[in-house]
Amino acid sequence: MVEIVETKSALRARADAARAAGQRVGLVPTMGFLHEGHRSLMQAARRACDVVIVTIFVNPMQFGPNEDLDRYPRDLDGDLDACRAEGVDIVFAPSIREMYPREPSTTVVHVAELTTGLCGESRPGHFDGVTTIVTKLFAITGPCHAYFGRKDAQQLAVITRMVDELDLPVTVVGCPLVRESDGLALSSRNAYLSAEHRTIAPQIHAALCLAADAVAAGETDPRRAVDIVRAHLRQWPDFSIDYVACVDSATLQAVDQIDADTLLAVAVRLGSTRLIDNVLLGASS
Ligand code: PAF
Repeated sequence: MVEIVETKSALRARADAARAAGQRVGLVPTMGFLHEGHRSLMQAARRACDVVIVTIFVNPMQFGPNEDLDRYPRDLDGDLDACRAEGVDIVFAPSIREMYPREPSTTVVHVAELTTGLCGESRPGHFDGVTTIVTKLFAITGPCHAYFGRKDAQQLAVITRMVDELDLPVTVVGCPLVRESDGLALSSRNAYLSAEHRTIAPQIHAALCLAADAVAAGETDPRRAVDIVRAHLRQWPDFSIDYVACVDSATLQAVDQIDADTLLAVAVRLGSTRLIDNVLLGASS
């Protein structure tokens, strides 16, 4: 049975009690509207941990003024069903007031450098919102293993760096990106796509695959990989490309030559929906 917890003190008490009993705590931070991608994180946590905590909180601090906070999809009942099906022990679903008694928060956790490029460029302040809420969740939960998807590759790199540099007692576990059968990366925001845009959206992954195939065939020039993705997407005028970039997967710095740690990352808009995707070049993803 899943236990629903709404206060920070109750979550802290449950996590402390688990550790006192010698149990390993697994944390899966989410904004809800859970899909198979989230479920794969829960499954990874379930396999490795004694107590699995899923947090469901649509974090206002990581949305810009013109972003989709108000229309962000929510379905707490469906989310609880998914958590039950995955054998989750605790769902932490706090109110905004519980997480931010003082709004706006006067304390902000900022990771420099890694947050300026890629999504950081068109979403100023977004990663400050992510790192602030994730730090709070880590502080409330205490020592744990925390599970994040590789679809949000920049978020994973930023949180990994933050945990390392702030010496937080958390083991960050990156989990494989999960796709629909036609290749579209799972995202809560896929729910916004019109029927027509939903048929076009898998071309993002198709474009990444074309570049990955070229790399597998010996291409090492990042500019060529980027060109392949852009040229493919340009065939559908509805795609508005935000960025296509080859970066090191840990530092997120642009690379001169492709190697096994090179991430090819893309962000596009289809209508008003912003979608991101990536592949690790030189790896079979
Ligand atoms: O990836 C997400 O869903 C969110 O950015 C996170 C990590 C739950 C923080 O709100």
